[in-house]
Amino acid sequence: MAVARGEFSSKLGFILAASGSAVGLGNIWGFPTQAASNGGGAFLLVYLLLAFCLAFPALMAELVIGRHAKSNAVNALRLISTNRLSYHAGSITGYVGIITASLILCFYALVAGWMLSYFLAPLAELAGLQDISDWLTEFGLYRNILFMLIFMTLTVAIISRGVQEGIEKWSARLMPVLLVLLLLLIVYVLTLDGAMDGVKAYLIPDLSRITDLQLIISALGQAFFSLSLGVGTMLIYGSYISQKENLFHLGRIVTFVDIGIAVMAGLLILPAMYVAQNNGVVIFDAAGKLISEDTLIFTVLPALFDTMGDIGIIISFAFFVLMSIAALTSSISMLEVPVAYVVENHAVDRTRAAQGIGLVIALISTVIAFNFADLFSLTVHATTRFSQPLLGFVLCIFAGWLWHRNKVLAEIKEGYAEVEQSLFWKIWPPYIRYICPLSILAVFVQLAFYNL
Ligand code: TRP
Repeated sequence: MAVARGEFSSKLGFILAASGSAVGLGNIWGFPTQAASNGGGAFLLVYLLLAFCLAFPALMAELVIGRHAKSNAVNALRLISTNRLSYHAGSITGYVGIITASLILCFYALVAGWMLSYFLAPLAELAGLQDISDWLTEFGLYRNILFMLIFMTLTVAIISRGVQEGIEKWSARLMPVLLVLLLLLIVYVLTLDGAMDGVKAYLIPDLSRITDLQLIISALGQAFFSLSLGVGTMLIYGSYISQKENLFHLGRIVTFVDIGIAVMAGLLILPAMYVAQNNGVVIFDAAGKLISEDTLIFTVLPALFDTMGDIGIIISFAFFVLMSIAALTSSISMLEVPVAYVVENHAVDRTRAAQGIGLVIALISTVIAFNFADLFSLTVHATTRFSQPLLGFVLCIFAGWLWHRNKVLAEIKEGYAEVEQSLFWKIWPPYIRYICPLSILAVFVQLAFYNL
């Protein structure tokens, strides 16, 4: 039985949903942390270059394939394959993408759960419940599992409602709140003593570092994670875009929003670190290295908020609400990947699919929580450093080599009739054929040798 497919109701609907997917913990937590530990301005510069020159073309490939096929990644890659071999390669890529998206959600839901518990903590404190507030901010098995479950329940509830009523409506509600909160926090932090040192560290690049291989690898990984690439998220969102819309234009806006929010988040977190330092919090060790890289926002920021007195409680609340919202509009896009596949290929009802898959993900997430030391960073690295770049590489091969150039052109022409004369059409095809796959491969090989 054919299932009626969802579609975003408008251009804005897609922009909010896709930016909602792109803007997440990766932007507000990952990017500033990486920038802080990789030379501030130098990282920013390399990141901007890679995000525009490599991640954006890859995003376009996913959107074009998705809208053409009007289906999930498995069917889409089968459709554009040209022989038996590429048909099977397409299926496998689609399946690996589904598994990767689900595994990313397993660890993402745990981190997002911390955001929820951290935003409840100041409320408990205000209510005089100090014990509860401490429990909420201390790393503990039951807290981790409980908040992961709450977060997964919210994600499942939104995805069950479908494309327009769920993804689009909630992204449209949450994204403006996120932007306003972020702006308010930046303005406030910039007025504090010490903030300008952070702004300098962030905006003035140390040019000697921009050729640092580790920095380049981190920046590329960050750009791919931030634009939700490789696993079929953007492909499936592309499949919900109407034929009337100009894909290039939409992709460009989403890229700008994503990069813009990451850059803005840097303008919040780096100055906040220096304000914390100014207030007596130790953030760098004797060698000048950041003390708590991964836990930066859970240690440095609360320490900063603590030094601010009552206003700190409000700021802390606003910050972690912001993080929770960013995480939710991203996690729904991860869950949509397996759900769309099961709904379309196995005719399962959407609500059932969302609940069933959500349950499996919550179970795996619980296993990770129980074996946190062994499994957490293993899952993060296996998915984001290994699987995502590899999938991105295969998608470029499909879009650049296997799919016929005229068919690609015909698809992009829908909604953008004059594309053939544009700079985009001169640059993008060779990019997606040579530059993107080769760069990903280069990074991938480096990672395989140095990091596994
Ligand atoms: N881009 C999101 C972030 O920056 C995370 C995300 C959403 C994602 N969907 C994805 C990452 C799919 C990889 C694959 O936090």
